[in-house]
Amino acid sequence: SKDLTLEHLALKIGVSTLDLTEAYLEIEGGTSVDCDILLSQETTEILINEFNCLPVWLEQEEKVFRPPVVTIMGHVDHGKTTLLDCLRNSSICATEYGGITQSIGAFSVKASDGQNITFIDTPGHLAFSDMRARGAEITDIIVLVVCAVEGVQPQTVECIEHAKSWEVPIIVALNKVDLSAAEVERVEMQLLKVGLELDKFGGDVLHVPISAKKKINIEKLEEAILFKSELMELKDVRDVMARGYVLESRFLEGRGSLCSVIVKRGTLKVGDCIAAGGSYGTVKKLINENGKDIKSISLSEAAELIGLKSLPRSGDRFMAVHSLDKARSVAERKISERSRAAYYESKSKEVKVVIPSI
Ligand code: GTP
Ligand code: MG
Repeated sequence: SKDLTLEHLALKIGVSTLDLTEAYLEIEGGTSVDCDILLSQETTEILINEFNCLPVWLEQEEKVFRPPVVTIMGHVDHGKTTLLDCLRNSSICATEYGGITQSIGAFSVKASDGQNITFIDTPGHLAFSDMRARGAEITDIIVLVVCAVEGVQPQTVECIEHAKSWEVPIIVALNKVDLSAAEVERVEMQLLKVGLELDKFGGDVLHVPISAKKKINIEKLEEAILFKSELMELKDVRDVMARGYVLESRFLEGRGSLCSVIVKRGTLKVGDCIAAGGSYGTVKKLINENGKDIKSISLSEAAELIGLKSLPRSGDRFMAVHSLDKARSVAERKISERSRAAYYESKSKEVKVVIPSI
């Protein structure tokens, strides 16, 4: 990747050299450029990102193991928040408004053997579709929470379909087994029927009966996650500029925009310039899940970030670049791409114009 020219890269991405050159000039500045110019690693990455492609690196640098990123999914009220709560030993559930998850949280947990796991919480409603579109890129494992009383529900099936289309493995947490109405075997059969080949029946889908409320088998669930992730050989490069995803964003009185981000590659540091979707800025603060200021986050780690000039969207990719100017051009291009897309979408809709007859 180090000896790419604009012409080569255009071929690889599948766009015209003209389009790529235009993007290059908008990002690097200037009015003309030679098609034979050798692109820097950073410019290559920015351009690949511009055309919504995912770069695959032929690594020179050493890859290190990274923690698995786990998304908890499941039908409404089956116990996702209670499980996350119990995993991080705090009490988010009690303080949440009306007990319904308001936002996406991510945090990291040290399992009993010292290994880290990053968990992402997902709200039960569907405002989450942007994120879901990125599911395969963000999450390594899905923990599907299924209430052992209610069994398989519409959103359970929907989650299984998402996981299958993303090719992300599922681990089933059969929750609320503390209740006398729990029917573990019946629900296991239901899961089998909707296509989950449970380990118990010779398949490779691990499942653990748990009680999130009574804290039964939580360590077993963590062990299952680590067992699965070891088989997946999750590794990436740590000492390069960060790339990752925005999980959620919001405005906070007096502090400007606040967003939670997760790093997939490299290390994100306070002071870095980043572009995130249509937004950009300098990382002013990184705050961990305990509200502490931290200097950096690395592979599979998440934090709240302060410093972006506007609100990125859930699921937006972010990338650190070498200057604020570059970050701004990348973001501005994203904004104009989006308004162009919206324009064509509105054009393609059938519009009925009523004309009064003469
Ligand atoms: P949404 O965010 O609204 O989709 O719900 P959720 O999946 O996050 O469920 P939540 O954790 O809010 O739990 C719903 C209800 O089930 C709460 O009243 C919990 O106390 C209860 N609950 C969760 N886990 C258990 C469990 O293991 N046993 C029992 N008995 N109740 C549980
Ligand atoms: Mg919840």
